[in-house]
Order: sequence, then structure tokens, then C-alpha cells
Amino acid sequence: MEELLQSKLKDVETYLNSLDLTDKTEVEKRSFLIEVLHKVQENLGYIPDEVQKLVAKKLKIPSSQVYGVVTFYNFFSTKPKGKYPISVCLGTACYVGRANEILDEFKKILNVEEEEVTDDGLFSIHPVRCLGACGLAPVVKIGEKVYGRLKRNDVRKIIREYRAKEKNS
Ligand code: FES
Repeated sequence: MEELLQSKLKDVETYLNSLDLTDKTEVEKRSFLIEVLHKVQENLGYIPDEVQKLVAKKLKIPSSQVYGVVTFYNFFSTKPKGKYPISVCLGTACYVGRANEILDEFKKILNVEEEEVTDDGLFSIHPVRCLGACGLAPVVKIGEKVYGRLKRNDVRKIIREYRAKEKNS
């Protein structure tokens, strides 16, 4: 796992070193930042602190600016995620529908806390604010799949399905 991360980090460094910024204005560099961060996230699955600093150095912008962008957009992540990231909505409609109980059930069954990855690398749990499907509250998204009107009792079955899928793949 560590070796894989190191080799991916090397790829990211090679990519950053290949960028030619000589003709870019300050404004262009800033808009380029999002594109660069997308590439990094695609490659590593998240954007750790040390890579944020590398990006800042390469684009010659303050690392606080990079951090600001990474934390502003929720499609960027500063921590590793599981193969199937579980976003549990804790927005008002979902909260009223007892989303906190669903969150607790995921934590209990997977034996991880929020923002942690399970030992097998399959799942991580991420509380979020409104997934934009309030009519289906309480809502959970696993990867790109949305589960609406979820009940605490559904959680174990869903996890079992993902595990079975992994076994058969
Ligand atoms: S509050 Fe959960 S989807 Fe909107």
C-alpha cells in the first residue's frame, strides 16, 4: 500500500514538473490550479498536505490558496477515501429522518469513524450537508449510487451486497 502511494506520488511529481507555466499570467495560473488539483485527485484519490505544498510551489502561489480551493469544493478530499466512499447526508431533511442513526449504524458495522477507511480499503464514511435529494430523505450516496428513504435496518444488507460484489469481481 505504502509502495503504491510512493509510486503515485512520484507520478504526481513528474506531472507537476512537466507543467510549463512560463507564459501563464497570474490569473491563468489560478484557474489552472483547479485543473491541476483534479489531476492529482484522479491519480492519488486525495490531495494530502505535502502535495498541496508541492502544487503551490510549482504554481508559485501561496499554499493557503491551494488549501482554500481544496477545502471549498467537496469533490476534492484531503484524506484518503475507500473504494466506495459513503456520503451520509446530515442536512436538515435527512437529520429529521434520523440520518444520525444511519451514520452510527455504518460506523458500527464497518468499525470505523467518520473520514476513516476500512482496513480492506473498501469503505470510508463521510458526513455531508444536503445531497440535493431532500425529497428522498434520509439519503446516503455510495460512490455515485444514491440510496433514498433509507432505514437503519437497510445498512447491513447494503454493505453485504458491496462485499459480495467485491468477492465476485
Ligand atoms: S438534506 Fe439530505 S438530501 Fe437534502
